Amino acid sequence: MVVKKLTLKNFRNYEEETFSFEDGLNILAGRNAQGKTNCVEAVFYLCTGASLRIRHEKQLIRRGEEYAKISAEAETRFGRTLLEAVIFENRRELRLNGNKVTRSVDFVGNMRSVFFSPGELRLIQDGPDERRRFLNLSISQTSKEYAQALLRYNRILDQRNNLLKDRDAQMILETLPVWDEQLAAVAARIIKKRQEYLAELSVLAADAHAFLTDGGEQLSLSAEKVYHGEEGEIAKKLVRELSANYERDIRLGFTSVGPHRDDIKIVLDGADARGFSSQGQARTAALSMKLAEVEIFKNRSGEAPVLILDDVMSELDLPRRKKLLARIKDVQCILTCTHAERVLYGAECNKIKISGGKIVP
Ligand SMILES: Nc1ncnc2c1ncn2[C@@H]1O[C@H](COP(=O)(O)OP(=O)(O)OP(=O)(O)O)[C@@H](O)[C@H]1O
Ligand SMILES: [Mg+2]
Repeated sequence: MVVKKLTLKNFRNYEEETFSFEDGLNILAGRNAQGKTNCVEAVFYLCTGASLRIRHEKQLIRRGEEYAKISAEAETRFGRTLLEAVIFENRRELRLNGNKVTRSVDFVGNMRSVFFSPGELRLIQDGPDERRRFLNLSISQTSKEYAQALLRYNRILDQRNNLLKDRDAQMILETLPVWDEQLAAVAARIIKKRQEYLAELSVLAADAHAFLTDGGEQLSLSAEKVYHGEEGEIAKKLVRELSANYERDIRLGFTSVGPHRDDIKIVLDGADARGFSSQGQARTAALSMKLAEVEIFKNRSGEAPVLILDDVMSELDLPRRKKLLARIKDVQCILTCTHAERVLYGAECNKIKISGGKIVP
């Protein structure tokens, strides 16, 4: 699929602007703080229903305005799709082809993107939160079932955690098993889907990594905690784990086992990459994971996502830049940079120059 057009109204530093994108490579060039990341953030928002950088959507609204509006026209194999999001301070309205969508799971995944920026280093170097967020956003874009399971899981988890904070220990112990059954059933679905996803991702990421490093480094990914068997068996195992931790959970006041605590194991040349890799290694490993994500989206939905590369060229050495450009030839890509000529090497592209929240000719 490709995104054809993007219109921003009162979004971040944009007053009103429309971008026309082409198949293949699109370059957003401009000096620092002009609105390049803001533009790609809007594309990402329409794909995932989530922002890149913030928790409070209010920050997406141009200062002094009451709402922000993002709309995009995508071309998928099912035809044209129109996506719109109107963001108010405390709520938002989503529309798909002009019809209001009330559940975000019905909005997410109609347009797909893979996002990569220098910050993606966190995926390798930071704690498990980043890696779970990656899994959740990525799998949700191709599986509505996963997105729904995740919503339900978080709801039940909140209720279980609230119960754990209660003062009445007897009541807690009597009620926990009821929540555990429900929690374990959805948790098992999430775990199963993540394991399937990681098995696919690992092969593709290893391939991308070998390509980027000329076979110099080996990358492998897996779920840190492995559960065997079908969903039913995993659920039973989880119920046992949950009940084995009652004492600790009550003491802590939250649930200490489950997919909200799991991690991805990332191994580079036989060693755990989390916390040990160099900047360059981590960057390349993260990029390999993202390129693998592009392939998974292709395999699962039959079409490539929009690849967003925010400010990454300057961070890669020359051979890797060229390799990256060669690798992404067949996908629509929106690439931001400060100096287009330094990253292109004569590659054909649609070049858009941005200054102060406006496209300049
Ligand atoms: N809600 C908002 N209202 C008005 N301006 C905003 C809002 N949110 C962000 N901005 C401004 O938008 C500007 C551009 O931000 P953006 O991150 O898109 O820059 P950029 O072109 O990607 O720059 P860089 O090359 O440094 O990454 C920033 O100066 C920021 O202060
Ligand atoms: Mg930026």
